[in-house]
Amino acid sequence: MISFYNSVKNMKIDKSAKLIARLEARYRKKTPKSLRLFREAQKVMVRGGSHSIRLFSPYPFFMATADGPYVRDLDGNAYLDYWQGHYANVLGHNPKVLEKEFRRFDPEHGSLHTGFEGESQVRLAELIMSRLGYRDHKIRFTTSGALATMSAVMLSQALTGREGILKIGGGWHGASPYLLKGVNFRGSEGFGAADSAGIPPAMLRATHVTRFNDVDRLERFFKKSGDKIACFIVEPFLGVGGFIAATRDFLQAARRLTEKYGAVLIFDEIITGFRFCPSGLQKLYGVEPDISTFGKLIGGGHAVSAVEGKAAILEGKGAKSKIKAKFEGGTFSSHPQYMRSGYVMLKYLFDHAGTVYPRLAASGDAVRTRVEAAFRAEGIEAHCTGRGNDVVPGSSLFMVNFPRTEHAYAAAEDVWDPALSDVRLKEDILKIALLTEDVNVVHGGGAISLAHDAAAIDRTVDAYAAAARLFKKYLF
Ligand SMILES: Cc1ncc(COP(=O)(O)O)c(C=O)c1O
Repeated sequence: MISFYNSVKNMKIDKSAKLIARLEARYRKKTPKSLRLFREAQKVMVRGGSHSIRLFSPYPFFMATADGPYVRDLDGNAYLDYWQGHYANVLGHNPKVLEKEFRRFDPEHGSLHTGFEGESQVRLAELIMSRLGYRDHKIRFTTSGALATMSAVMLSQALTGREGILKIGGGWHGASPYLLKGVNFRGSEGFGAADSAGIPPAMLRATHVTRFNDVDRLERFFKKSGDKIACFIVEPFLGVGGFIAATRDFLQAARRLTEKYGAVLIFDEIITGFRFCPSGLQKLYGVEPDISTFGKLIGGGHAVSAVEGKAAILEGKGAKSKIKAKFEGGTFSSHPQYMRSGYVMLKYLFDHAGTVYPRLAASGDAVRTRVEAAFRAEGIEAHCTGRGNDVVPGSSLFMVNFPRTEHAYAAAEDVWDPALSDVRLKEDILKIALLTEDVNVVHGGGAISLAHDAAAIDRTVDAYAAAARLFKKYLF
């Protein structure tokens, strides 16, 4: 067996350039209509699209239709898709259960926004709150994860009268200026730096970054600066940072320290909410945060997110700051069709929880194990993150990493430090290699949906095996 750890040191840049050129030529050949549309888009749209993560190199394919595990592009290619609406579509693309609902819903209520309070939001709120099971909590809906986490931070600052924010290196909470630190995934300087222009310097100084799953460091931080911290925001299962489960100790320490120093504990469950179990992951950990944020699948494929938490904090009671946080909502807050869609999606998950969650976990297990084996068969060491732990029984998330050294994957640094893992191989080369095999991944993997059946998983593993053979031939 070729030792990946050793051979990667000798991997020559020109070798990968030859492979990329070959893969791009294959991709261009199958996607001429997408290229044409991308050129048109570039003339009028920033970098040719609406979200940087969708604009991969050499150019994105443009979708025509999507159903179940597949997305079809303008040229008629059908890709097995693991992006699934930025991980929102846990039932797969355009699931029948929602389509049916729309047909029923449209004639009755009209599907466009009206700007009034409606019943569907109350029903969705009740459904979510019944699963969280807190007596003194409330919820408010908004339209993006970034807005939800921003509001959570502002509410914490109002409550405590402090400015400091503590977050995780590699913790992505959306493009809110408060939280754009520690998310420079492809940078070589680690997770300490600012990641965007336009953030007021005082705000940047007030945002601190710590390492996921590092209890000692968290304790040291709170001992030194805990009395200046308004909130600690953390995902119970790190998302784009690497699909890594928090240890029980880490989240318990987070709860204990925030309580001790009078800071607000925010769990960002925008990816994790209702994906692992019919509730938030917080229920599995048995840790009650002060505020949670939800998004992605609570809108059933629509722009819905939510701030949930202790009613007193959300309603601005007992705030130490002189004025309340503006937690008002926006034009498209609680669009009735979106609310109804979220309700139908969650209800489906809850009604079928006994089969849905074990199946998602089993699919995740199968993909992670078999993809690692496919690379190992070619003598290449691949490590799939996304596994559960003693708290999280399993997960539908997977991210393929190529370790340069033997090391644990406990925090985002282990995944994204180019000295530890070959980030370029995962992000750029694997992406295009799999596209030529009709599989779409982001960060080397993605989110398995209920629409990904055994045949889809077999085809996916075959695609990774084909990529592994190419890597061996060209790179090692
Ligand atoms: C954990 C987490 N929080 C917040 C966000 C931001 O959500 P949005 O893209 O809707 O602003 C994301 C988006 O991927 C996320 O993964």
